[in-house]
Amino acid sequence: TREHTFIMVKHDGVQRGLIGEIIRRFENRGFKLVAIKSIQATRAQLEVHYEDHKGKNYFESLLGYGSSGPAIAMVWEGHGVITAGRSILGATDPIKAQPGTIRGDYATAIGRNVVHGSDSEKAAKREIDVWFKPEEILTWHRAG
Ligand code: CMP
Repeated sequence: TREHTFIMVKHDGVQRGLIGEIIRRFENRGFKLVAIKSIQATRAQLEVHYEDHKGKNYFESLLGYGSSGPAIAMVWEGHGVITAGRSILGATDPIKAQPGTIRGDYATAIGRNVVHGSDSEKAAKREIDVWFKPEEILTWHRAG
C-alpha cells in the first residue's frame, strides 16, 4: 500500500524562492516525489481543497490569497509520509513551529506559512483529487 500526501508550496513560498528548499527536505528524509506541477489555483479549487475551513473567519482570505499567484503542487510517497510530512512542515502557526521545521525556520505569520500539507488520509485523498488526475501520479522504484 502506497501512502501519499499532498504538499503545496504556497504563493508566499514561491515568491520567497523556497521551492528547492522544501523539496530538498522531503528528499533528504527519503520520501519519493511522484507528481509535481505549477498551478494557478482558482477559488473553486481552493474551496474544495480547504473544505474543512469553510465558515472560518479567515476562509475568504485563504481563497483570495491562494488564488492570487502561482503555487507548486506535489504528491509525495512513503511509509508514514502524511504524519512525517506534517512534522517536516511544523505547526500551522509558525510562531509555535519548532526551529528545524520549514515553518519554524522560514515563517512568522499563519496566513503566510509557506507550505501546506495534508493532515489526514481523508484530506490527502481529497486534496490530491483536486489538483491531479490519477494518471499524473507516477509509480517508480529506486534502483539497486
Ligand atoms: P494550511 O496548512 O494551508 O491549512 C489551512 C490554512 O489556513 C493554514 O495553513 C493557514 O495558512 C490558514 N489559517 C489557519 N488558521 C488561520 C487563522 N487563524 N488566520 C489566518 N489564516 C489561518
